[in-house]
Amino acid sequence: MSIENKNRRDFIGLSFAGVATIGGIFALGAMKKTWDPLPSVKAAGFTTVDLSQVKDGELHQVEWRKKPIFILKKSANMKPDDSRDVVVGNSRYTVCIGLCTHLGCIPSYKGEHFACACHGGMFDLSGNAIFGPPPRGLDIPPFKIDGTKLVLGEVGPEYQKLVGKA
Ligand code: FES
Repeated sequence: MSIENKNRRDFIGLSFAGVATIGGIFALGAMKKTWDPLPSVKAAGFTTVDLSQVKDGELHQVEWRKKPIFILKKSANMKPDDSRDVVVGNSRYTVCIGLCTHLGCIPSYKGEHFACACHGGMFDLSGNAIFGPPPRGLDIPPFKIDGTKLVLGEVGPEYQKLVGKA
């Protein structure tokens, strides 16, 4: 075997080793990713909202696990709904995931209802489906009440009570 051929074979051998090493590193990285908990669970498992800051009749929107959450403090002229209202002290709130239960668009707050522009679905101010294709009302996220704070992502007795009724 000529020296030139030997050098070529050594080079090819080293190239394969290099490719295999790099491939191995990527594979380990991918495996680690599947073992780690989802970043959203780690970083954004809970969202806390001070309900005392929410004004009557104004829609307050926060993000919880990458989903929009609608919080509406009902004013005196808004119809109470015992099966969906979150009651804190003397105030009633609508708390729901702001994604249409038809195909997931974000409905807009229109003062008297929520309207989904995608296919004309409508929800009342408590989040009940009242018109169009949505098969059910806006979903209520798990929550816990801690004084005047709403902790999204924790299951409290208030949430369990509502889900039992819904
Ligand atoms: S996604 Fe809202 S009505 Fe279709």
